[in-house]
Amino acid sequence: MTTTAAPSLHASTTDPLRIAVIGTGYLGATHAACMAELGFEVLGVDVDPAKVEALSRGELPFHEPGLAELLRRHVASGRLRFTTCYEQAGAWADVHFIGVGTPQRPGESAADLRYVDAAVTALAGHITRDALVVGKSTVPVGTAARLAGLLAETRAANGLPGRVELAWNPEFLREGFAVQDTLSPDRLVVGVASDHAEQVLCRVYADAVAAGTPWIRTDYETAELVKVAANAFLATKISFINAFSEITEAVGGDIGTLADAIGHDPRIGRRFLNAGVGFGGGCLPKDIRALQARVSELGLDRTMRFLAEMDDINLRRRDRVVDLAVQVLSHDRDGVTRCTANGGSGHVPDPVSVQVLNGARIAMLGTTFKPDSDDVRDSPALDVANRLYTAGAEVSVYDPKGNANAAARFPRLGYVDTCREAITGADLVILLTEWDEFRALDPDHVATFVNRRNIVDGRNVLDPTAWREAGFTLAALGHRFAPDTGRGG
Ligand code: UGA
Repeated sequence: MTTTAAPSLHASTTDPLRIAVIGTGYLGATHAACMAELGFEVLGVDVDPAKVEALSRGELPFHEPGLAELLRRHVASGRLRFTTCYEQAGAWADVHFIGVGTPQRPGESAADLRYVDAAVTALAGHITRDALVVGKSTVPVGTAARLAGLLAETRAANGLPGRVELAWNPEFLREGFAVQDTLSPDRLVVGVASDHAEQVLCRVYADAVAAGTPWIRTDYETAELVKVAANAFLATKISFINAFSEITEAVGGDIGTLADAIGHDPRIGRRFLNAGVGFGGGCLPKDIRALQARVSELGLDRTMRFLAEMDDINLRRRDRVVDLAVQVLSHDRDGVTRCTANGGSGHVPDPVSVQVLNGARIAMLGTTFKPDSDDVRDSPALDVANRLYTAGAEVSVYDPKGNANAAARFPRLGYVDTCREAITGADLVILLTEWDEFRALDPDHVATFVNRRNIVDGRNVLDPTAWREAGFTLAALGHRFAPDTGRGG
């Protein structure tokens, strides 16, 4: 085990730390509010004045359970403030967390580091006292060492006073559980270059350390790699079970029972083995692509090649939903189960899809990449909705929190404000995000609104027996669709 004891604090290091958080998007805003909750004085810094103004009024620009309350409370108490001014942060804070985005570069696999580079450069020129700069953003291995050099060079060139050091402390929070994951993390990983940097981070995380949270002190490279390794492993687990879905779809079998059975082995574990439309969001997809790009740069092209396969398996799940929609609708229309000509792949609809989907009224339940979030980045649900629309379906989309973000990306889809509006008159209902509201749907009640009793369960959360007893033809990912044998519908 590499877990080490966190260092004990020296008596002289008990003055309260002042914390700045650079970047107030999802990660930064959560971290800033949680640091205030832990009792620190916090200054959030962002280059976007509109965002800073909203946050300063206590308004959270995205949905995350429990976070809006923390933000309001600590803005009201004065413990949490926001600014666009790096100079203010540089003169004031003891610790500067970097929480800016590292999205996928447009048209490439690699991570776009321009925001991290800009934040560290701006900060480096404005810190005028002793401070620790702590990277939290997910970055390709080697970035921290480069940024440490950049920090030192920029400061030397400007002749700035104070001892400034860099540490890397990756963030493992999940959307939907961000507050809990930040206040009570399951581990703390600190990539540091000195005992001093570890001491400072130990003071920041004193509550979690006292609660026994595993503390892992390591170097920059390991800290960077821990984060991408964790996300690559999670993505692999999901694609692994979804690859078995392709087998059970072909030969029969129950993917949920298969996952339960292997999950009982503690070496495997049941979590992240839920078969369905696959992973999306702002992290897993771009992180596995960035990792492949980085190892390629290092001349290790073959090392992470399997991740390309995981990505492919994941994207094929979206094709499968389109294919199932075609199969269910064609079976309902004339008793013949048609498949799409190319398995539903790609954004250009094939002739079979167009023929079957054209004019079909489809209720899409869910736009976000997962429940309890309004995030639609790389969302499988939204991608499928757009493909069905492109193939000629009349798509009626509802998500409890995601419609506004979805409409900003795909304005052509038909968005409605309630589940009832979405399903009214539908020839087919497709569930792609497992919000509680959709899990709890009563099939007999749904039957009174739809035009045709057809449903595709893209997340394996509906009780197939109950839906079939209510007269629905139900198709689910990871299950063979064979309505003529009485097993598919
Ligand atoms: C993920 C990681 O879980 C976090 O630990 C990490 O900190 C974060 O990325 C990040 O890098 O910032 P998140 O993107 O919030 O967190 O979402 P997850 O809960 O990991 O779900 C990712 C996707 O996988 C979702 O689309 C979800 O529906 C899908 N999923 C998850 C499955 O399809 N099957 C499963 O069994 C589990």
